[in-house]
Amino acid sequence: MAIHWHTERHDCVKSTQDILKQRVQSGASEGLVIRADEQSGGYGRHGRAWVSAPGNVYCSFLLKPDCKIRDVGQLALVIGVSLAQAVRGLVQTPDQVSLKWPNDVLIGGKKCAGILIETDGAGHVMIGIGLNIVAAPDIGTPLNAYSDREISADEAFDKLLEQIALCYNQWIVGDFDDVRAAWLELGHKEGTPVSVKIGERTMSGTFYDLDITGAMVLRTPDGEIKTITAGEVFV
Ligand code: BTN
Repeated sequence: MAIHWHTERHDCVKSTQDILKQRVQSGASEGLVIRADEQSGGYGRHGRAWVSAPGNVYCSFLLKPDCKIRDVGQLALVIGVSLAQAVRGLVQTPDQVSLKWPNDVLIGGKKCAGILIETDGAGHVMIGIGLNIVAAPDIGTPLNAYSDREISADEAFDKLLEQIALCYNQWIVGDFDDVRAAWLELGHKEGTPVSVKIGERTMSGTFYDLDITGAMVLRTPDGEIKTITAGEVFV
């Protein structure tokens, strides 16, 4: 069934992701979006804090795809491609927008947006997105640095939900090939040196491909092919 959004808006919360989890406990339906102007305790992947000053987009939304846990790897790419397309539609230099596996959105090589995907084993997928519009930590960039006009968080949020609905509706009817192709257009090119931190271990090699589950396929220096399903990538 096609996704329909219903948004609950807040001024300042600890974390939109936490509020969404509470709503899931009380039986929230697919398409619920929790959005806040500011977060006091936003968090990202690998347990890191997500700095959440006013002016950026902070939201979490609920999906209930009828899919196996394994397909959540595909969904991670679906959301990454949607976010990257939304950003491309807003900046002056869309060619500078890229994806770092699985779904960090970069502009000019600097992180502009991050995605946190959590599941609860009961078919709920809770997706949190932080999109930097006016401010970003040192290693990142705000979207407005790449636009000749001031883009508001509201405009970016609307564009984001529109793109996610488009891409997600395409994916749930069984079309992952187009999503994968779109990711490969925006993501690492074959042969790009990458390192992946998996727990305490780091694996290095070159990017080779994405497999059908959304996993990253690496070629190690001795020519071995390794499939990576989770980890933090450094390019
Ligand atoms: C990442 O580590 O790259 C993912 C960052 C996700 C941050 C967003 S902001 C909205 C939502 N609420 C949170 O506490 N985290 C996510």
